[in-house]
Amino acid sequence: MMRSAVRGIGSALPRRIMGNKEFEGLVDTSDEWIVQRTGIRQRHIAADDETTASLGEDAARKALENAGLEPGDIDLIVLATSTPNNTFPATAVEIQDRLGMHHGYAFDLQAVCSGFVYAITVADLHIRGGLARRALVIGSETFSRILDWSDRTTCVLFGDGAGAVVIEGIEGEGSSADRGIIASSLRSDGAQKDKLYVDGGPSTTGTVGHLRMQGREVFKHAVGMITDVIENVFAKADVTAGDIDWFVPHQANKRIIDASARKLGIAEEKVVVTVDLHGNTSAASVPLALAHAVADGRIKRGDLVLLEAMGGGFTWGAVLLRW
Ligand code: UT7
Repeated sequence: MMRSAVRGIGSALPRRIMGNKEFEGLVDTSDEWIVQRTGIRQRHIAADDETTASLGEDAARKALENAGLEPGDIDLIVLATSTPNNTFPATAVEIQDRLGMHHGYAFDLQAVCSGFVYAITVADLHIRGGLARRALVIGSETFSRILDWSDRTTCVLFGDGAGAVVIEGIEGEGSSADRGIIASSLRSDGAQKDKLYVDGGPSTTGTVGHLRMQGREVFKHAVGMITDVIENVFAKADVTAGDIDWFVPHQANKRIIDASARKLGIAEEKVVVTVDLHGNTSAASVPLALAHAVADGRIKRGDLVLLEAMGGGFTWGAVLLRW
């Protein structure tokens, strides 16, 4: 049975780090409130010359280098983003061009904070379906560009960055002992679209718009949605929480991460947390956290890794893979 296994990983962050204290001069907030309610201590903010395409390219180059591959070895790029460089063409084709890759195909996928979990699932299907042999799956975002910097309920929460993996088809035996993606579960519910959205777009206002969120409403639904899709992948793969080596959740709020791990019965020391360093980077959050835990030596070849995300739409999903 064909499996899509991770061969390389990379990440990129804007040069500028913005600490919580800096917000105290912008809106009525405090470092203490932000840390207590979210766990965020700092985030990276893109300069004018740092875009979703440039950060995505940087992360992709590092993932290729880590994999020991060249752009010529890749035949698919899936970019998860809600903050593309342009309305069209897809920022994925801009990254394709920046990499000097003029074969294969590239497209953007938009599932807000669940984007990377959706994208790696879609790339897995393209590989197992025979359309591609190797794919770059990138999550890259510049949410700082769509924030309302006068709204304290949202501007303190988000940051910019990118993460990328190279996945490739390998032969497996069809069990959860295989390397690669073992099970995925994706969900959405458009009835919740007004809880987290951007108030602009090409076909409505003709503007880019700003992010709006009913934070408490999102919070209320988050843990239930996350644990639902995770229990679904556990059932599909016939594994339990005790089998998981690393839980790499979407990094929106430390309280949501802790509550989800507790409900699932995943030990605290197996949970990768980077929300303190990066804030919520939407589709970049899971690959950034993955890259962090690979770089510091926690995630190693053969480990069973659980990815999860939820966000605007609502969209939510989970992926179980063996590193
Ligand atoms: O990635 C997509 C998924 N997104 C999420 O997962 C976000 C989910 N939501 C959350 O993480 C949390 O709901 C927030 C961090 C956004 C807010 O935390 P909360 O504990 O739910 O706070 P709250 O919205 O109930 O607000 C509590 C108080 C309010 O004041 P009153 O009404 O009690 O007087 C807010 O106005 O905190 C106030 N507040 C702030 N105070 C200082 C809201 N934002 C701030 C702020 N600084 N930045």
